[in-house]
Amino acid sequence: MQTPEPDLVLRWGDPRVRQAEADGWECIATSWGARLTLDPADSASLTRLRHLVVRALQDGDFLREAVPDDVPQVLDLDALTANDYPGGVATRHDPLDEPAARALLEQGRLWGVWSGNALVALTATRVDGDRVETEFTTVHPEHRRRGLATAVKATSVLAHAEQGATLFGTGGADSNLASLAMNEAVGYQITERWSTYRLRAADLTVLGRVSDDELNALHAAAFGHAPTSIPWTGRLTTRSLTWVTARLPGGGPLVGFVNVIGDGGAHAVLLDTMVHPGLQGRGVGRDLVRTAAKDATRLGCQWLHADYEDKHAAFYEQACGLAPTRAGLLRLGRNS
Ligand SMILES: CC(C)(COP(=O)(O)OP(=O)(O)OC[C@H]1O[C@@H](n2cnc3c(N)ncnc32)[C@H](O)[C@@H]1OP(=O)(O)O)[C@@H](O)C(=O)NCCC(=O)NCCS
Repeated sequence: MQTPEPDLVLRWGDPRVRQAEADGWECIATSWGARLTLDPADSASLTRLRHLVVRALQDGDFLREAVPDDVPQVLDLDALTANDYPGGVATRHDPLDEPAARALLEQGRLWGVWSGNALVALTATRVDGDRVETEFTTVHPEHRRRGLATAVKATSVLAHAEQGATLFGTGGADSNLASLAMNEAVGYQITERWSTYRLRAADLTVLGRVSDDELNALHAAAFGHAPTSIPWTGRLTTRSLTWVTARLPGGGPLVGFVNVIGDGGAHAVLLDTMVHPGLQGRGVGRDLVRTAAKDATRLGCQWLHADYEDKHAAFYEQACGLAPTRAGLLRLGRNS
């Protein structure tokens, strides 16, 4: 199975969007770029920025530019918040290591807020051509919603403006409401938008056409055993409530499957959820279960049951939303 294509980031209005969508690329996140133009003679704007700084700082807070001795604290705050940046590749923040943190200070400027001795807010900037670009802004989770991100960012704008900068750039994910609000508070205005596309891993079909050979091969690959010759299709058509197939886009090979049996009433049971090992971890299993649940609901069922081993608990409970419950199992014989 091939390695997944890297995600594609396209600006809104880019003529390649239409082709990408036709080729099976799906939008998984949207993001924005914003600009702030500051007129150094506009004293009202400068006063407003200073006010954003003053209003956020409490007793015991200290805001200053970071220096090389601060690198260990910069690394600690970065590690603590590294997983908090949403939005995919367009807005990803690569966690810092020591050389990267030192490079930020050598090639740009950083400002932080210390609460007592602890660094709790940080913004990093670098000059890029005619504008000052924000690399990232981060705040300790326990100090968020106090205006500290707004304060460090406003400070960075004021400090660069003192050296003659007038144009500032930044960006973020649409799903990051805090980042959007923080930048709007400083005065940034959105100037461009982007979408991040991911090549659809598989096409899902309810009651999709499938052969015994395909299902036997997939079962062997997914469960790691020698191929068997189970008469799947006869059983599906006579016994199943519904089933869902997943094929590589464009009618390609079978890469996923889930079977659903029912009691004719409120209960449906998931069986044989399987995704080819080469495509696992890309959301196909979750989509199969969600699609099966939707179809069972359409057919009048009210409960979807599954029993699973501990190693699959995270998949069923976190990715698919099943609640853990106790279930029992009795082996009846070896012929089934
Ligand atoms: C984004 C982040 C830096 C904001 O820090 P913060 O100190 O909490 O932000 P502020 O207190 O300065 O808040 C600024 C504005 O955002 C709003 N805001 C903060 N958190 C919010 C949330 N979760 N949802 C909606 N709005 C939020 C505030 O109400 C405030 O709006 P206002 O000016 O209209 O009152 C912080 O959430 C964070 O560290 N996130 C992880 C790293 C990240 O995503 N950085 C941004 C990309 S570089």
